[in-house]
Amino acid sequence: MQIAIMGFGTIGSGVAELLLKNNKSIVAKSGQASMEIKYILDIRDFDNHALRDCFTKNFDDIVNDPSVRVVVECMGGLEPAFTYVSSCLAAGKDVVTSNKELVAEKGYELLEIAKKNNVNFLFEASVGGGIPIIRPISSCLAANEIEEIAGILNGTTNFILTKMFTEQTSFEDALAQAQQNGYAERNPAADIEGHDAARKICILASLCFGKHIYPGSVETVGITGITAEDVAYAADWGGTIKLIGRAKKLNDEKICATVGPCLIQAHSQLANVNDVFNAILVRGDAIGDVVFYGRGAGKFPTASAVVADVIDCARHSTKRKLFGWGAPEDGYVLDAELQNSSLYVRADTDDYVAAFNAVNRAFDQPQILHREGEPKSEIAFVTPVLREKEARAAIAALPMRMKTILRVLDY
Ligand code: HSE
Repeated sequence: MQIAIMGFGTIGSGVAELLLKNNKSIVAKSGQASMEIKYILDIRDFDNHALRDCFTKNFDDIVNDPSVRVVVECMGGLEPAFTYVSSCLAAGKDVVTSNKELVAEKGYELLEIAKKNNVNFLFEASVGGGIPIIRPISSCLAANEIEEIAGILNGTTNFILTKMFTEQTSFEDALAQAQQNGYAERNPAADIEGHDAARKICILASLCFGKHIYPGSVETVGITGITAEDVAYAADWGGTIKLIGRAKKLNDEKICATVGPCLIQAHSQLANVNDVFNAILVRGDAIGDVVFYGRGAGKFPTASAVVADVIDCARHSTKRKLFGWGAPEDGYVLDAELQNSSLYVRADTDDYVAAFNAVNRAFDQPQILHREGEPKSEIAFVTPVLREKEARAAIAALPMRMKTILRVLDY
């Protein structure tokens, strides 16, 4: 079977290397006589590369060659990826992608094109790097009504938080290491500001709840506001702070979806997920909580998921896998403040006693937190679980200057 790879960056080159390195066992698992790379599309020159005869700068070479059965898209970004992927599907080729942005923004359209042309559009590598998550949700957990899905979905930010708060590395040095390791996006702002995690929670939520969810409907906050003070207060509370992507049913009809730093208990299955590792917790009505854990970014973990999809396409070369979700629906994603939450607050005050009394008047049994070296001008507390909109209104009315407000999770 002939394969084309579009994009020869970190992931695309990893896919090529893995296909060559493990070719014998990949062929054996594929049910095909061979698994060969015929084309690699990239705008750069690779004249000295061992695969130099495969390189092309012309997409038409791939889409017009009927011998190419599976096309791997690792270019990233929306265009020209969307045009190329839709053309390949329309030409009757299976497509495998690692491109989160493409699936989060155009997944429904591409799944419809795949359906119409009886071909596969697979994207296991788009969430959680090498962690199997797309197939387990769509197959192994298919008997469940999913109530909530949440996780550490971005390797770069988890790596940065781990380095900053357990090894005292500066933000800049931690980011540079993440870039050297091939974890970060081309523009790392997508990682740091939470957009990469928002794309991933959209893909997971679309799969879990059955309607396409767009990143624009996800309340998204990154990691730049997290300070050592907040991490110290989280430790006093009995936990830590992680960047969590979540999607949750609010009732039978609607969901809410958020990305942001959250407090989680030290005993949570997500609390000790460090460095580049990701973990995704799925809460189903039959299974309860199940957690998927592994390397969430990097060349070979991600290539592992891409090549597995290629093998799946080879095995299903005449039959499309039944897989995907339905059309988007206006108003399906509700304002996240309609959920019930407990909130962590850190604020500055000119009068600690007055602030302390105001917090106790505003909330029933708030938990006041302390840290070593805490100045008299600072107060931190955790509210009880309340309708978030009302809790935030009560916090805004307190006589203090807000520094940080974070959700507190119960898993
Ligand atoms: N930049 C992404 C991350 C790559 O750090 O998780 C994997 O999707």
